[in-house]
Amino acid sequence: MTMRLVSAELVDSRQILPGQWVQSFHAPELASGSRAGQFVHVRTGDYSGLVLRRPFSINTADPATGIVTLHFRTVGRGTEWLTRAREGDRLDMLGPLGRPFEVDPRSRHLLLVAGGLGIAGIRMLADEAVRDGRQVVILFGAQSASLVYPSSLLPDEVEYVVATDDGSLGHDGFVTELMVDYEAWADQAFACGPHPMLKRLAALAAGRRERLGVATLGRKRGGGKHDPLGSTAARRKAFLQVSMEQTMGCAVGACLGCTVIGVDGPQRVCREGPVFAAEEIAWESIA
Ligand code: FES
Repeated sequence: MTMRLVSAELVDSRQILPGQWVQSFHAPELASGSRAGQFVHVRTGDYSGLVLRRPFSINTADPATGIVTLHFRTVGRGTEWLTRAREGDRLDMLGPLGRPFEVDPRSRHLLLVAGGLGIAGIRMLADEAVRDGRQVVILFGAQSASLVYPSSLLPDEVEYVVATDDGSLGHDGFVTELMVDYEAWADQAFACGPHPMLKRLAALAAGRRERLGVATLGRKRGGGKHDPLGSTAARRKAFLQVSMEQTMGCAVGACLGCTVIGVDGPQRVCREGPVFAAEEIAWESIA
């Protein structure tokens, strides 16, 4: 689907965690045309008349009901304004924007890794994968139990494994430490969260083949055929894809305000991303 500007009607708004909200909008064009990993640019206000636009991952999209949901944290005036919106209010949403996750059709086992609000970036992929008959494990990391995403908001078919930095729930430590337990099982991994988490996962993914001692898990290596870095075909074959969070200006590729350093030069998160294959990113440039 091509990007369009839609008028989305708020139909439900709820706080699911301290400072974190899930809002549901009736926006049939977005619900039926979006893929996991894509985002919308939402026009918000701030009571002073200033118009702001904010990017949000599309948290879920249900073509049957025409409902899309956004999951966000209140971090400033725009998101604060959003939490005060009432059912029936209409918001301008530009989308879907960006490139989605690319799942290899041969992949049976998908490992999804999320840090904090990064769950919003991979949530829809869980729905797509379950619908397509794939097995899904979600590894989720948060600072403490009070910030753990509720399992009741996930599809029943998903195996959900939690880590907390303070050990108050699940694994005591970083979510990245759980990766080792699942890397042999997983055909592909998809992650969204803080950049240090993604950097650690990329390092683990790069060393994975030696640890496993088997090259490919039955995957053909393409016999010399080489898909260009960043192409859909190359991404589809990547073991690890990451959704990069970055502040944005225009969200449509024009302002260059959202770039990250890739191995082939600057990459616009809003346009070449937000999803990248891990090997596209120059991780040494990421703090
Ligand atoms: S936000 Fe303007 S180019 Fe990405």
